[in-house]
Amino acid sequence: MRKKIVAGNWKMNMELAEGLKLAESVDTYFRSKPSKAEVVLCTPYIHLAGVSQILKDGKVCLGAQNCASEPSGAFTGEISPAMILSTGAGYVIIGHSERRSYYHEDNTILNRKTRLALSTGLKVIFCCGEVLGERESGKYFDVVKNQIENGLFNIPAEEMNSVVVAYEPVWAIGTGLTATPEQAQEMHQYIRGLFSEKYGKEIADNLTILYGGSCKPSNAAEIFSKPDVDGGLIGGAALKKDDFTAIVEAI
Ligand code: 13P
Repeated sequence: MRKKIVAGNWKMNMELAEGLKLAESVDTYFRSKPSKAEVVLCTPYIHLAGVSQILKDGKVCLGAQNCASEPSGAFTGEISPAMILSTGAGYVIIGHSERRSYYHEDNTILNRKTRLALSTGLKVIFCCGEVLGERESGKYFDVVKNQIENGLFNIPAEEMNSVVVAYEPVWAIGTGLTATPEQAQEMHQYIRGLFSEKYGKEIADNLTILYGGSCKPSNAAEIFSKPDVDGGLIGGAALKKDDFTAIVEAI
């Protein structure tokens, strides 16, 4: 059975002390109440080393939200996958729509980041998803296909067990507008089909595909009940311990 994952993406929120406090409360919760899903906290870079100490020997995993496309060197302000790994983090989010739109990260750069992160030993949560106009004009399958083919399909099959896909329709991110469970299922099934054509049924069946976009305690159970939805990538609701743990419980 493929792995279920619920990952919190804190985005650019939480000063250091606040973030450590939130991580501590989430960590304490899951130490006493193990979950059916793997729980991941994707924090800002500055929190990684501190949160890693808190999560040590516990049940919750740690990830970053981005990484450099180069392994080391004169790249002022960048953070390499090896640096992320050295904090104790095991995951990195790549290709979030906010990186694609505000920082102009295209498929070529995202593919470089993904290959480097995987070869360094990180697991990658690779994001894809269409904007509202693409949904309304019916182009959403083509958009997601293009992001996945160009972002991931030169990754060797042996590395695919370190890849998680997150479908995040951009029109649902931070808007309160959630994709219906049927819309999520339709796209997740389509994505799994793309992997099946490229890598075969076994790899596709083992691929964890997360839904992201205005996931909250009130809608998580219905979305997670769909057969191709294997968990969630949670933004706003991951900043509140009670909301985040309730979403994890919905698995
Ligand atoms: P929200 O849950 O705030 O809509 O954000 C989703 C997201 O972008 C997670 O990466």
